[in-house]
Amino acid sequence: MSLLLGIDYGGSFIKAGAVDSVTGQLVGELVAVPTPLGATLEGSRVAVQALALQFPDCTGPVGLAFPSVVRHGVTHTAAHISPDWIDANAVLWLSEALGRPGYVLNDADAAGLAEVRFGAGRGQLGKVMMVTFGTGIGTALFLDGVLWPNTELGHLHVGAEEAEIQASARTRAQLNLDWPAWCARVNAVLLEYHRLLWPDLFIVGGGVSERWEEFQGLLTPNLKVVPASLRQSAGVVGAALYAFEQSAH
Ligand code: BGC
Repeated sequence: MSLLLGIDYGGSFIKAGAVDSVTGQLVGELVAVPTPLGATLEGSRVAVQALALQFPDCTGPVGLAFPSVVRHGVTHTAAHISPDWIDANAVLWLSEALGRPGYVLNDADAAGLAEVRFGAGRGQLGKVMMVTFGTGIGTALFLDGVLWPNTELGHLHVGAEEAEIQASARTRAQLNLDWPAWCARVNAVLLEYHRLLWPDLFIVGGGVSERWEEFQGLLTPNLKVVPASLRQSAGVVGAALYAFEQSAH
């Protein structure tokens, strides 16, 4: 068994866990620390170092799921984090912070990777779209299990505003939307994604997916939508899987 550390950088918490990279199982509990104020490079370094110390058995490469466009280890956007991350070499930052090889990918891509390999999208051919509802909306697209990275469709305008401004979990909390009001917004977003991309299956993830039973009956019956089966751990698992696969190249 190869135990790898996966880290998922969220708007409120940074979560970490040890992942069996062969089975995709989380081994032990997730550990979380609050996301540092402003999500700066320096504050984030201290946070990931503190998390890594909790996993002394994970000595190999580390994967980080990050809320930004990530190409070749460089973060290019900063929707809910410090602008310092724009064009930052995140792979170098992570590797230097933890003193071992680090690998970085977009957070929704990481969650989708975990779900497609080991969760709700396992064995699903055709187009699968992961949609995560958190501080923003993250999206990941797969064709026959292969990822098209950095789709950023949370920023697609649906009607007058960006999808994530209307329907993220943060918006639900800020506007105190009840389930029917929030699901009406989510349905508009999913139907627009479907109108443009025609996925065979949507997987809904993010913290709110823990409460799937409370809102699933309010989602449009016209689409095939399932919850992330790895729920809160999808980003952590996907980050570790990515580190495993990249380090084997
Ligand atoms: C960011 C994406 C991210 C998503 C979910 C968006 O605001 O632009 O990169 O995947 O939030 O965290």
